[in-house]
Amino acid sequence: MSTLQAEHVYKVFGRRADEGVRALRDGADREELRADGTTAAVIDASFSVEPGQIFVVMGLSGSGKSTLLRMLNGLLEPTAGRVLFDGQDLTALGAGEMRRVRSTKISMVFQHFALFPHRDVLENAAYGLEVQGVSRAERERRAGEALELCGLGGWERSWPDELSGGMQQRVGLARALATDADLLLMDESFSALDPLIRRDMQDQLLELQRRLKKTIVFITHDLNEAMRLGDRIAVMRDGRIVQQGTAEDILTRPADDYVASFIQDVDRSRVLTADAVMDEPTADADACACPTVPADTPLADLCAVSARVPHPVAVTGADGAVIGSVPQGRLIAFIGDEPRPPMACVEVAA
Ligand SMILES: Nc1ncnc2c1ncn2[C@@H]1O[C@H](COP(=O)(O)OP(=O)(O)OP(=O)(O)O)[C@@H](O)[C@H]1O
Ligand SMILES: [Mg+2]
Repeated sequence: MSTLQAEHVYKVFGRRADEGVRALRDGADREELRADGTTAAVIDASFSVEPGQIFVVMGLSGSGKSTLLRMLNGLLEPTAGRVLFDGQDLTALGAGEMRRVRSTKISMVFQHFALFPHRDVLENAAYGLEVQGVSRAERERRAGEALELCGLGGWERSWPDELSGGMQQRVGLARALATDADLLLMDESFSALDPLIRRDMQDQLLELQRRLKKTIVFITHDLNEAMRLGDRIAVMRDGRIVQQGTAEDILTRPADDYVASFIQDVDRSRVLTADAVMDEPTADADACACPTVPADTPLADLCAVSARVPHPVAVTGADGAVIGSVPQGRLIAFIGDEPRPPMACVEVAA
């Protein structure tokens, strides 16, 4: 069963919101509505997120990402459509029941995570549990575990202003994890961090996710971050989801010119993996001196291997058997987006 589903969700702001939805269904576009003071923030969004998946919503500023996320945790009511979580229709819940679901099953991590300055790190991480009325001993135990998971063991009694920005953001993540919520909603959670710390946080999230298997919706305007984190990615433009799929789908089969222009600068060599570019195994793959790489090897690393030998690189599956082969020419075709030179390969080979 899929954990989170959005079904034809709309959010229209303005006095004549319902009329706006009808007009959109009849083919009106966002600009026509704007002319009479109505904002179509989210238009006909449908998707489902399976348990254990990271679903990334990507798009430029104003494309409707935060509005969509706020409908997923009931902070905003959709103008039309339904949001189902664990089969329960969130849009049909009363305010009290929605608050209960929000405080026990859903956690949010924002871009600028506001920590309470007069509470220490442990108390900050335990805040969500305090709101739920969990006893002090229990909440400190669970918050302590969450801090440990986020690499902040030993910092429990420090004050927020003693922590770097990245560490403060990790306290925010620990607070979200401490409640044991199944659904984690993250809105530009790493965007305020500098690039190295941001990469660290991404790694940490991927590592945590391998262990905890939450259902995560992660919002970002950074395509490289989206590609790194997302099991599936939805690209939003002007309120609509214009494409959803895996990073590989989006890179190799962009739905339209807009998505194509977006992915122009993505470092394909880090996103695409050997199995995405391999051909059928060559007949002599086992016999030749072909080097082998596992199927999930990023192209950048595959290039380094390929550059050292004159023959194709064999790709192996989980059981070690050869499942494909990558001739050098094919690798260059994938990484180099003609007429750009295949930078990654050139650098490695030089
Ligand atoms: N409460 C509101 N009332 C009216 N319009 C709103 C409201 N909230 C958002 N909007 C409008 O909805 C559109 C989508 O906004 P939203 O905040 O969802 O975009 P976003 O993709 O999260 O952008 P950013 O990347 O800048 O955070 C924008 O045009 C915004 O002005
Ligand atoms: Mg936003």
